[in-house]
Amino acid sequence: MSEETILERRKRLLGAGAPLFYDEPVHIVRGEGVYLYDADGKEYLDVYNNVPNVGHCHPHVVEALHRQSTLLNVHTRYLHETVLDYAERLTALHDETLSMAFFTCSGTEANELALRMARFITGGQGIICSNATYHGNSEAVDELATLFHDGRTGSKRVKAVPYPESYRPISDTEGAALADEYAELVRKAIEEFKEEGIGFAGLLFCPIFANEGLPKVPDTYMAKAVALVREAGGLYIADEVQSGFARTGEHMWGYQVSAVAPDIATMGKPMGNGHPLAGLVARADLVNDFRKEVMYFNTFGGNPVQCAVGMAVLDVIEKENLQENSKLVGEYIRKGLRKLKDKHEIIGDVRGHGLFNGLELVKDRTTKEGATAETSRVVNELKERGILLSKIGIQDNILKMRPPLPFSTENADLLLSTLDDVLRGI
Ligand SMILES: Cc1ncc(COP(=O)(O)O)c(C=O)c1O
Repeated sequence: MSEETILERRKRLLGAGAPLFYDEPVHIVRGEGVYLYDADGKEYLDVYNNVPNVGHCHPHVVEALHRQSTLLNVHTRYLHETVLDYAERLTALHDETLSMAFFTCSGTEANELALRMARFITGGQGIICSNATYHGNSEAVDELATLFHDGRTGSKRVKAVPYPESYRPISDTEGAALADEYAELVRKAIEEFKEEGIGFAGLLFCPIFANEGLPKVPDTYMAKAVALVREAGGLYIADEVQSGFARTGEHMWGYQVSAVAPDIATMGKPMGNGHPLAGLVARADLVNDFRKEVMYFNTFGGNPVQCAVGMAVLDVIEKENLQENSKLVGEYIRKGLRKLKDKHEIIGDVRGHGLFNGLELVKDRTTKEGATAETSRVVNELKERGILLSKIGIQDNILKMRPPLPFSTENADLLLSTLDDVLRGI
């Protein structure tokens, strides 16, 4: 089927607004490891997809999915060990305070549940998020989607604070003083919730601010902000949907980057390597209080196939040393990107953690005006040359590099040399 026909059918069946990547979209038909293949057999190096975290169609995960599907797949209201084995293994990987789990089918559902728990437990309604974020697509979670609403939240019960960053800081301070200035805005938002009679429930952040563009967060910010949240009786919810499962290299979880454990951590995307598996882990007292009063049931959440897949993903991360690989290859990429920065004036900033890196492109290094159109050209040109990545940030001027974790230094060399070539022509 031609690409024109597929586009026409999409428009007719899914609506003209259904999002698509690239000026000329790619028709992908197969995936393996860190590669994707289009209908003409062209190979693409995947530098974008974190959902196939352990590699596209990893045989160990596929086999686990198949094996459990042929045996049993049923909801969690019968006794079954798989959900317990998986919950035990998952919570053991988290901070020891996060000892109980819920399972859902999407990151949105996990965040919706976390919001519901925080509001139920604290009795307050107010949630703080960042001013350039996205946490999911349900009506309640969309209230936090400031990235798609010009920095504004969708309701009075959600307030957005500027995300902490060092490249375009809110003032000309730095370090602990800058962290204090950003944290002060959290304190103000909490006060306002109380004055407005909305009450305060908690703060929900991606701990590495992935959708915001992976800013370099002033060191003491998270500890300060979370201390303020807890002093006010609120909960800290860490959205690990992008930052979890060894993505940051040094750590299994994004919240470990700032060494501040949350009260609730939500997960999704890479958890099932493409299979719809998501959920949260939380403090036992919170789960027990919530469960006592609220009947939460999720038909597909925690079913034996989901959990078998989740176990297989963890097996691969461990057996193939993918966290270490994320750390080493991630460092290698950032080193290469810094070398490119010395050559290309358009590169304003290089940053990231493990195999999650951002390259901010600017028109001018002094004014730091985002090179939005140029970033789009780079993304499209890289695609033509067989490298798939995307862009993020309020100005859409940050190249987003987040490949499957088995990404090698050879893959990194190809990425860096092709990027060098493309930037030379921009
Ligand atoms: C940080 C973050 N949280 C949550 C979500 C929502 O996850 P899902 O699409 O599985 O509902 C996303 C999706 O992009 C995300 O980036």
